[in-house]
Amino acid sequence: MSLIQNPHAGLTQPDTSITTRILCANDAQALRDIRLHALTHDGRYFTADRAAESARTMNQWAQACIETCDRAMFGAFAGNELVAIMGAQKFDKTTVRYGSAYVMPAFRRSSIGTKLYNMRDAWAAARGFTTAVFTIRADNQRSRDIQEKQGAVVFKIEPLRFADGSIAETMWYKKYLMP
Ligand SMILES: CC(C)(COP(=O)(O)OP(=O)(O)OC[C@H]1O[C@@H](n2cnc3c(N)ncnc32)[C@H](O)[C@@H]1OP(=O)(O)O)[C@@H](O)C(=O)NCCC(=O)NCCS
Repeated sequence: MSLIQNPHAGLTQPDTSITTRILCANDAQALRDIRLHALTHDGRYFTADRAAESARTMNQWAQACIETCDRAMFGAFAGNELVAIMGAQKFDKTTVRYGSAYVMPAFRRSSIGTKLYNMRDAWAAARGFTTAVFTIRADNQRSRDIQEKQGAVVFKIEPLRFADGSIAETMWYKKYLMP
């Protein structure tokens, strides 16, 4: 956690103010750090290949940060520290694929996830996407509850492989985006 100087006490205090924004190339190292943390410690949540992501170059991480018409990576910062991420990428003309939703454990249940979900939906709707699709492992009840409260519905269930090597039933969700 980053530290700021408290001018009154003359002591260093944690900077707990949270800001959100779309990532840029300068965030490459921070994105790599949080993403590999997520895949190493919470790999059961992500259908991703940890070995492949570990082998990515910094240039590839920078590319993953850069916003285009088709994709963006959203981040929440505590001071200068990247503590949460979410991604969106074009699937087809009207559909956007969501993924990579991760809030560092110490920052969960502080509405950071909600801020990023809303930011991502607004970004996608503003670019003309009418539907978002994403997967959630069947036993990730918290994530499913959050998404179902936001109107997401299951349209397919299939077993998928996760970053921790496990294979589990997984729900494919779709969510209609407000224009
Ligand atoms: C799922 C995840 C992204 C949610 O992020 P988060 O920052 O914890 O979410 P929020 O704090 O915005 O909370 C979401 C819900 O919890 C509630 N909540 C928020 N702060 C709370 C608090 N202090 N006490 C109790 N509930 C709280 C919110 O009201 C919200 O519920 P609602 O939808 O009924 O309004 C996060 O828990 C996470 O990274 N989990 C592990 C990885 C994961 O599962 N990723 C998704 C893969 S599909």
